[in-house]
Amino acid sequence: MSHVEHRGILLAGGKGTRLYPLTASTSKHLMAVFDKPMVYYPLTTLMMAGVREILVISTPGDLPRYRALLGDGAPWGLRVEYAEQAEPRGIAEALVIGEEFIGDRPVMLVLGDNLIYGRYDFLRKSVEDDPTTARIFAYRVDDPSSYGVIDFDDDGTVLSIEEKPKDPKSHWAVPGLYLYPAGAAAEARSLAPSGRGEMEITDLNRRYLERGKLRARKMGRGTAWFDTGTPQDLLEAANFIEAIQRRQGLIIGCPEEVAYRQGFIGHDHLMRLIGDLPACAYRDYLQLVAEDLV
Ligand code: DAU
Repeated sequence: MSHVEHRGILLAGGKGTRLYPLTASTSKHLMAVFDKPMVYYPLTTLMMAGVREILVISTPGDLPRYRALLGDGAPWGLRVEYAEQAEPRGIAEALVIGEEFIGDRPVMLVLGDNLIYGRYDFLRKSVEDDPTTARIFAYRVDDPSSYGVIDFDDDGTVLSIEEKPKDPKSHWAVPGLYLYPAGAAAEARSLAPSGRGEMEITDLNRRYLERGKLRARKMGRGTAWFDTGTPQDLLEAANFIEAIQRRQGLIIGCPEEVAYRQGFIGHDHLMRLIGDLPACAYRDYLQLVAEDLV
């Protein structure tokens, strides 16, 4: 690969208050989106972009459950590490927590409640672009007021970025997937907390914008993006996954399959993984993948 490989950070902390009481005794990102834990979707997004070294950040109470689910990542050809975020002090804090893990690499940060399906060319292209520029994405939504919202010109130069504006300047929402150059942790560390006491990712992005170092790329109509913050969002995402999977007979967000197709693991390795799974539809599907029948 010609580009510098990004380190990955998957942020799965917070209290999930908008999903209470679902989140009273479990972590939001471990809840089901149809047939698999929510965290499988952002994890496979990183994998689809070729990222294999991943730091999972969650609360001290929930981290053991992520370790139990994802382990050290080796079965999927990954290296997974873990770190705590004691309190939800903002998305940008993930970079500060991950400073040592990131080292001198560029980093790809994904939010544990973001689900992306469909064409991934927008991400593959961005990974290969100039790594000294921060990169965000733009997804058209009807009502962008509960997201970061950007205005940008035809060549992707971001003109403005606002967090949850009451009166959005455009329909372009910013999904929870961000690429930062080396040095992003130091940049995040120097952010002042916002009115709600958080290190805001939008403030970090604005820093890069002010330096002419923030570019946006559209996620086109061939890509679906969901953020599963509310019960309604969760149901919509689950219905979407169920409909596509049932129609195509293909599973979305399956780490074993992505690892195999990306060449992170070989055929013998996949067969061993299948052998360790209980009898279930997921295992039957992976058997089809191994036999080249899907
Ligand atoms: O989903 C995309 C949106 O995510 C962006 O458009 C916004 O610009 C960005 O601020 C963020 O908005 P949300 O309102 O969705 O952020 P929320 O506080 O719900 O956090 C998103 C995820 O990150 C959620 O799964 C919990 C996790 N999180 C959040 C914070 C603030 C943490 O793990 N730690 C934190 O400190």
